Amino acid sequence: MKQVDRFIINGPCRLEGSVRVSGAKNAVLPLMAASMLTGGTCILDNVPDLRDTRTMMQLLAGFGAVSSLEGGRLEVDASRITSFEAPYDLVRTMRASIYAFGPLVARFGKARVSMPGGCAWGPRPVDLHLKGLGALGAELTIEHGYINAKAGKLRGAEITLTIPSVGATVNIIMAAVLAEGRTVIENAAREPEITELALALKSGGARIEGEGTSRITIDGVSSIAAYKHRVIPDRIEAGTFAAAAAITGGRIEILNCAPSHLGAVIEKLEECGARIVCGDGSMTVTGPERLNPANVETGFYPSFATDMQAQIMAVLSIARGTSTIVDRVYPDRFTHVPELCRFGAKIARDGNVAVITGVEKLEGAPVMATDIRASSALILAGLAAAGETTILRVYHIDRGYERIEEKLRAIGAAIRRARD
Ligand code: UD1
Repeated sequence: MKQVDRFIINGPCRLEGSVRVSGAKNAVLPLMAASMLTGGTCILDNVPDLRDTRTMMQLLAGFGAVSSLEGGRLEVDASRITSFEAPYDLVRTMRASIYAFGPLVARFGKARVSMPGGCAWGPRPVDLHLKGLGALGAELTIEHGYINAKAGKLRGAEITLTIPSVGATVNIIMAAVLAEGRTVIENAAREPEITELALALKSGGARIEGEGTSRITIDGVSSIAAYKHRVIPDRIEAGTFAAAAAITGGRIEILNCAPSHLGAVIEKLEECGARIVCGDGSMTVTGPERLNPANVETGFYPSFATDMQAQIMAVLSIARGTSTIVDRVYPDRFTHVPELCRFGAKIARDGNVAVITGVEKLEGAPVMATDIRASSALILAGLAAAGETTILRVYHIDRGYERIEEKLRAIGAAIRRARD
């Protein structure tokens, strides 16, 4: 997984066969950080070996928490935390490093975390994380690009989020489980990854109710025991394979997935003409001869995920007719638009709206990956396009997709990784 890797795709490819989805990156990262709430060794199964997983292991190691990952099993021993600082070098490569904040403040009453900056698709503030921790009694100061927190015993509070932020909900839950008294989070994020965190913490003795709804109640306890948890399948990886079947007119059986987490994506792909048959922990997606256009709006779970926006745009770029996409979660998340246009796609962006005029076919081109999901949209376009596509900066893809090229090759994609 070197930064100089690139992917070379020779399309068009029709994908056919079975593929197995890995564990969810966005569930694993909070579960890893939350291990610091315990004084023991937490065990997570179905953990994807990703750049982000490794970055979080490195971050935990910096605090003194020793972890190992082998064969999908991750063990984190958080019994000897000796440092409380999340350095800039790690936080700038992975924003989820901010997840260290809640557990450190809750268990040790101190933390120093580099302030995450913007990202490829615009500003991504952490004000709601800070307001939440502040409401629980942490004293926060920001200096030299670092957020410093000091706290005695945290105290439960009523916190209303102005936006149902996933990250803020995660950080507040992690802090509140060890606070004194009751915390209520109103307008909490409802994503399945939040439910996962709550379930794991509950198995370690936390008292949490309402996970998966907009109102989460947490009654603080004095300690959390080490937990063992099996990570849910990655819904975005599953959605990306579903999009791959749609865009290549192929047929993919997607194994180890949770179709119930993919309602809005399934609905849109069906509108585009894909046939989707859901099983128990699997789904089979068959792409049509020619795709129908669709109008997509991203939103908070259970609406259409912003993490699937770039991929559905690639799909719609070859639909018969005009489609629109509105990103209501990240209005600037459109760095993939100019790259998709390099394949011959016709996409015009105005603010948070993209209008996609479907073209008959795409042509392979050299393109550059800009973030995790934008990168997977480029892979999808490359699979559908005629001729050779080279995707630079594959390290973005490696952050969130486990062995993506191997999985795609096994179902008929002509894709290979090259090293300079
Ligand atoms: C998580 C996901 C990311 C996904 C995003 C939205 C992880 C590790 N990452 O990111 O893949 O794209 O959810 O589903 O799980 N906001 C604020 N103030 C804050 C926090 C957020 O204004 O303090 C805003 C953001 O700018 C954004 C919206 O809230 O417009 C949602 O962001 P949030 O849910 O926090 O995203 P992340 O947790 O960063």
